[in-house]
Amino acid sequence: MRLTDAEKAMRDGAEGAAVARAMDLLIRYGEALGAESLVETRNVCGTVTATTPFMRDFAMAKGGLDAVFSEFNLDSAEVVPVPKVRAFSSHLQLGFDPHHPIEMGVSEQTVEFYRRSEASAARMGVQMMNTCTPYQVGNVPSRGEHCAWMESSAVVYINSVLGARTNAEGRESTSAAMLTCRIPNWGYHLDGPRLGTHAVQLDIEVESVEDWGLLGYWLGDWVQDRVPVVCGVTRVPNLPRLKHFGAAASSSGGVEMYHLVGVTPEANSVEQAFGGRAPVEQRRYGARERGETLARLNAMAHDRQVDYVMLGCPHYTIEQIWEAAQLLEGRQVHTNCALWIFTPRAIKALADRNGYTQTIEAAGAKLMTDSCSAMSRAVPPGTKVVALDSAKQAHYLPAIVGVQAWFGTTAQCVEAACTGRWNAA
Ligand code: F3S
Repeated sequence: MRLTDAEKAMRDGAEGAAVARAMDLLIRYGEALGAESLVETRNVCGTVTATTPFMRDFAMAKGGLDAVFSEFNLDSAEVVPVPKVRAFSSHLQLGFDPHHPIEMGVSEQTVEFYRRSEASAARMGVQMMNTCTPYQVGNVPSRGEHCAWMESSAVVYINSVLGARTNAEGRESTSAAMLTCRIPNWGYHLDGPRLGTHAVQLDIEVESVEDWGLLGYWLGDWVQDRVPVVCGVTRVPNLPRLKHFGAAASSSGGVEMYHLVGVTPEANSVEQAFGGRAPVEQRRYGARERGETLARLNAMAHDRQVDYVMLGCPHYTIEQIWEAAQLLEGRQVHTNCALWIFTPRAIKALADRNGYTQTIEAAGAKLMTDSCSAMSRAVPPGTKVVALDSAKQAHYLPAIVGVQAWFGTTAQCVEAACTGRWNAA
């Protein structure tokens, strides 16, 4: 791998032991990927906090949080003092919501250890956004900006909607990038891999959040990790629709980049989206494909009595919380059901101020942050049947916690929460 003089100096210890470990990790990682160089990045999203009892025991045995960061973030058995980050760095979601330990099923000791770890991460300079959607709470990369982000739904959003450049990174590579402002220069950092490979022509209007989730789920299943180009979008989707679309496509497949012709920034035309090449394969998406995808997502559900409704995957926008609050106003969640809504901390603060949290809680629901049921593996006790408005969560939650899942609109989910039944077709 070609290194600049500054990168060689970091590797050789000029900036301290932790930076040297980080550079060594990035060189090994980049060489394994076949990258010829590193690219400069000043925008990183990753995970640096310690959240598990295993990490707590490890910290106690090895001498503190620097030992955890060395081992789990820098792949270094030797404990190195951890410096402040050099890149603008945002923290992703956690394995639990520390403000709701009982619901999440975590002990006081685990939360207390996490809080120490969070304070340490904040002292390093990491922004404690604690969300899978940093792009809606202050980390909005520019077009062409090289980033190092984890979390599939966020990666596909910033690549496709914002035109930023990232691969789906991991805990170790993002931590190394935070300390060095470097990441291997391959994949979606380069022009060629960003070009479209597969074309789909829409035969129906794709409008609602549910519509976009279904299209994304169908598309990801088809193209897997290639780059789909969608033609025939008649109504420009807003942030929640694009969020659900990308999250679904990255769940049923491994889509990290897509183009909507006439909408997303690298697809002003079909020619631009494909870079003048012909698509590898072309398909049409119509009522039949939509119907089959909905049936597939609901295939495992048969009990109509719903125990739990989860909204907020990916984390809800303020617009979606506003909608949920309006749907819940003056109503009550059924005594046999629970409704949890997940959102970033910053948006929860806005919902508090706007009175939406009060409306949601008055209905007997909870507005939570930092995590979700798939990440935390936490659902209300005794849950057998869930209702969801997210194709991504419907894809993962049944496999993770062994429940039946109904997928539908937000209104259908709120109706299920208030009646305790799934009444949609
Ligand atoms: Fe976010 Fe959890 Fe969904 S982390 S994208 S809400 S699976």
